[in-house]
Amino acid sequence: MNVLITGGTGFIGSHLARFLHKKGEKVTLFDIEPDLGLVDDIKCELGLVKGDLAFLPDVKSTVSSSKAQIIYHLGAFLSAKAEDRPMGGFRTNLVGTFNVLEAARLFDVEMVIFPSSIAAFGEGVSNPVPNEAYQRPTTMYGVAKVAGELLGEYYYTRFGVDFRCLRLPSVVGLGRGPGGASAYSSLMIEKPARGESCKVYVGQNSRMPVLYIKDVLRAFLGLQEARETDLERRVYNIGGISPTAGEIAESVRRYVKGARLEFHPDKRMQEIVDSWPEALDETRAREEW
Ligand SMILES: NC(=O)c1ccc[n+]([C@@H]2O[C@H](COP(=O)([O-])OP(=O)(O)OC[C@H]3O[C@@H](n4cnc5c(N)ncnc54)[C@H](O)[C@@H]3O)[C@@H](O)[C@H]2O)c1
Repeated sequence: MNVLITGGTGFIGSHLARFLHKKGEKVTLFDIEPDLGLVDDIKCELGLVKGDLAFLPDVKSTVSSSKAQIIYHLGAFLSAKAEDRPMGGFRTNLVGTFNVLEAARLFDVEMVIFPSSIAAFGEGVSNPVPNEAYQRPTTMYGVAKVAGELLGEYYYTRFGVDFRCLRLPSVVGLGRGPGGASAYSSLMIEKPARGESCKVYVGQNSRMPVLYIKDVLRAFLGLQEARETDLERRVYNIGGISPTAGEIAESVRRYVKGARLEFHPDKRMQEIVDSWPEALDETRAREEW
């Protein structure tokens, strides 16, 4: 199977590339700033295209040349970067998603899988947030995720593009970069494990759900392999567990002797994290696939 991963040299894209390559898929990575650090040992066996999601000709030529049967559309500005540069966030996250769906339609791609986020919800929802809750995010990142979900549903009903989407919590794992406000949970584990100190930019009581990268890959594959007839919707919450930052610190200190974790809350990062719910209800995903 030919699989194209946009944002394919990022954190999740690199782990997904390794996972799919190991399963025998022919994987092509598309990225505006390719950094093959996390897939260095298998890079010769992966396709790589440098291009811009916001530029339709780049996306069309890559979908065509890779003969993509499935697109994992992961390329994006993460939350903090999209708040710093809202216009760039709009171009990459919203125009980019439109371009991917349009190319998928033009080249008869069998399936498009898109990671939305807990950030697609804003305030005024109950915890855990049900799958079909009210969506009023207050960040550019969240606005673009809701728009991406809706565009995908539109391309499914209007043109038959098999769009499938997971709303992920904060993903924890090796190699996560700092571009998202939710990255603190992953950095709080990786930095002490490497013997580095970590400044935590949210308060100890901040609570948001986290999910280990290997469980994210399992969820992607579960959704990809789900029978069309079992799916009653196109977008699914995926839960994880919801510790506070203080609880993460406590666990890290238990396992990493001398872990240096200092809390220095940053107002802007704290506001972004506080605008998200504390837990996601994944009942629909469990029931349907
Ligand atoms: N990491 C998380 O906790 C998390 C949670 C929910 C959803 N997601 C979503 O998963 C996806 C991947 O996240 P990640 O953590 O791997 O992020 P990441 O920042 O590590 O990777 C994103 C990749 O997209 C690339 N990119 C940015 N702009 C581009 C453009 N214009 N054209 C082509 N490529 C471009 C970047 O160079 C980067 O390699 C994103 O869509 C993100 O919103 C991530």
